Amino acid sequence: MLPEKKISTAVIKRLPRYYRYLGDLLENDVVRISSKELSERMKVTASQIRQDLNNFGGFGQQGYGYNVEHLYKEIGKILGLENKYNVIIIGAGNLGQALANYTDFEKRGFIVKGLFDVNPRLVGVEIRGLEIKDIDEIENFVIENNIHIAALTLPKQKAPKVASDLVKAGIKGIWNFAPIDLNLPKDVVVENVHLLDSLMTLSYTISRKEKKKKQQK
Ligand code: NAI
Repeated sequence: MLPEKKISTAVIKRLPRYYRYLGDLLENDVVRISSKELSERMKVTASQIRQDLNNFGGFGQQGYGYNVEHLYKEIGKILGLENKYNVIIIGAGNLGQALANYTDFEKRGFIVKGLFDVNPRLVGVEIRGLEIKDIDEIENFVIENNIHIAALTLPKQKAPKVASDLVKAGIKGIWNFAPIDLNLPKDVVVENVHLLDSLMTLSYTISRKEKKKKQQK
């Protein structure tokens, strides 16, 4: 059973990476792995891995390491991946269509059920077998199709109103790509994804390295 204690966001954010690595190991028929080897592959200290996994009761055995399949399944459970999630995408432009075209979401249990847009030229167009629907149909669609997650890939000015309409229709998870903070009720989970933030972090690290090099000259 999972303990009820609060797990830090930093730990949660590292779990998908463990899950991905373990999935790769499984695909390569690796049955068990020592924490040292896992740490070398992932470039994370063995103690970090142990500490992270100890939050959930720990899964390693002294002298054995980790059973890859067991750990993979347990981390999957912690991440809630034994459930299937019905997803809709709001805004079927460049990003919305790119997400709809990505097949790996389904492999992890995130099923794209619908794509919505306001543009009449897009409504009716098919993306990977899904017809883009008019945004006016959204409320009924969410209710009738038991939609759990909405990806927001529409202009930022439109995102708050659409998000609040979605919440009224019963959506509990928002995957927000629009570069704006959403103020929604506490029981709604918002995960913001900002590629530009990641690029700026990259830029920071590059510029820091460059500065260091110059200082050393
Ligand atoms: P786009 O202009 O190609 O697509 C936006 C789509 O939203 C259009 O088809 C438009 O008709 C539709 N739309 C507008 N109002 C709507 C409404 N009320 N309901 C439903 N659909 C509506 O733009 P793109 O490049 O796909 O970007 C979409 C959003 O994602 C923008 O807010 C952009 O800033 C953001 N973005 C975020 C990234 C990230 O890393 N978080 C990366 C790229 C884009």
